[in-house]
Amino acid sequence: MIQNSLREFDADPMIVRQTFAQFPSGVAALAADIDGAKHALVASSFMVGVSLEPCLVAVAVQKASVTWEQISKAGRLGVSIFGKGQGGLTRQLAHKDRAARFEQVAIEVSDDGAVFIDGAALWLDCSISAVSEAGDHWMVLLEAHRLGAGENEPLVWHGSTFRELASPPAVDAA
Ligand SMILES: Cc1cc2nc3c(=O)[nH]c(=O)nc-3n(C[C@H](O)[C@H](O)[C@H](O)COP(=O)(O)O)c2cc1C
Repeated sequence: MIQNSLREFDADPMIVRQTFAQFPSGVAALAADIDGAKHALVASSFMVGVSLEPCLVAVAVQKASVTWEQISKAGRLGVSIFGKGQGGLTRQLAHKDRAARFEQVAIEVSDDGAVFIDGAALWLDCSISAVSEAGDHWMVLLEAHRLGAGENEPLVWHGSTFRELASPPAVDAA
């Protein structure tokens, strides 16, 4: 029975974390160059398709994020969706030692200071459209002004680990 698997979680936030971890997602880096310093925030809560016209995407950012305080002042944010083989890079860009995040990372920086990660699956050049409170996070709406896909397949975050897409089963391939 489904309901036998449903648990109350008031007293234990780990139940929420573990259950949410079963939801597969892509992983994004929101990155900006501010006065020559590069900042990146890695987020698995990123989602596309909030709106097509205007082109809006969303991300939930912990209120405790130091990096958000910095990049929320940027005029443009580069969003890179990590690709196959970039699990190590994802962890590096989320490292608590912020100074080490961009060591040896191949990037491109736009004239507006949006930072894009080489080898990602897709990129969006965004500005911040709206920020609202959502419990212990900020719900951030981003407007994409330019976007494009690369050659690499996306990385998948699931069960607190990185996975790669498998070929579609024969029944779905047609
Ligand atoms: C796979 C992965 C997914 C993450 N997803 C989010 C997210 O959706 N929102 C968020 O605020 N932080 C997320 N984080 C944590 C941030 O990337 C970052 O480590 C955290 O904000 C602390 O760094 P800061 O204080 O420099 O912001 C994620 C980290 C990893 C490794």
